[in-house]
Amino acid sequence: MDISEFEELRTEILSCQKCGLAVTRNHVVFGEGNPKAEILIIGEGPGAEEDKTGRPFVGRSGKLLDKILDACGFTRKEHVFIANIVKCRPPNNRPPMPEERAACIPYLDKQIEMIDPKIIILLGATALSMVDTKSKITKVRGNWIIWSNRLVMPTFHPSALLRNPNLKKDSWEDFKKVVYKYRELVNPKHFSANIPL
Ligand code: URA
Repeated sequence: MDISEFEELRTEILSCQKCGLAVTRNHVVFGEGNPKAEILIIGEGPGAEEDKTGRPFVGRSGKLLDKILDACGFTRKEHVFIANIVKCRPPNNRPPMPEERAACIPYLDKQIEMIDPKIIILLGATALSMVDTKSKITKVRGNWIIWSNRLVMPTFHPSALLRNPNLKKDSWEDFKKVVYKYRELVNPKHFSANIPL
């Protein structure tokens, strides 16, 4: 990973005008975390808080995501990079439209290529559509998918867990699988207070 190339990509994305979301956004949300992380987390798109701050997953969903990462022994700073399918907020939190996704996905492709993560976590249906347009998240979650030579774990979006706390149990099973895989592929001694070595 060439950090200066990554920063060039950030600069390019921050001034993007490729779709209509550029008109209504306050901030482009490039993503954050360790650009050399072995885990890339992909959400849907910025919400109100993210649009205000320019940072991914800082609203209610983000707080829950942070709790889950903490339970796994992962930090934003060291273990993960967090990005989204679209980098600008769709008004009224509607899902991004096909043309908006199509305009933005080449940026995510570049981020994936540069970060070169071993594991990708897809949060929710919009993120899942990047690798599988046919299956439902409820059906494929918790199952590893091999996509472009990478291991991909689809799971529920934290906003789904906020709406329906009954899903939290399944979500935790999915994240446990990520921790086991991380120990297998990256660091056998990775510590999580909740998942014994
Ligand atoms: N939801 C997302 O999908 N992404 C964010 O960055 C925040 C909320």
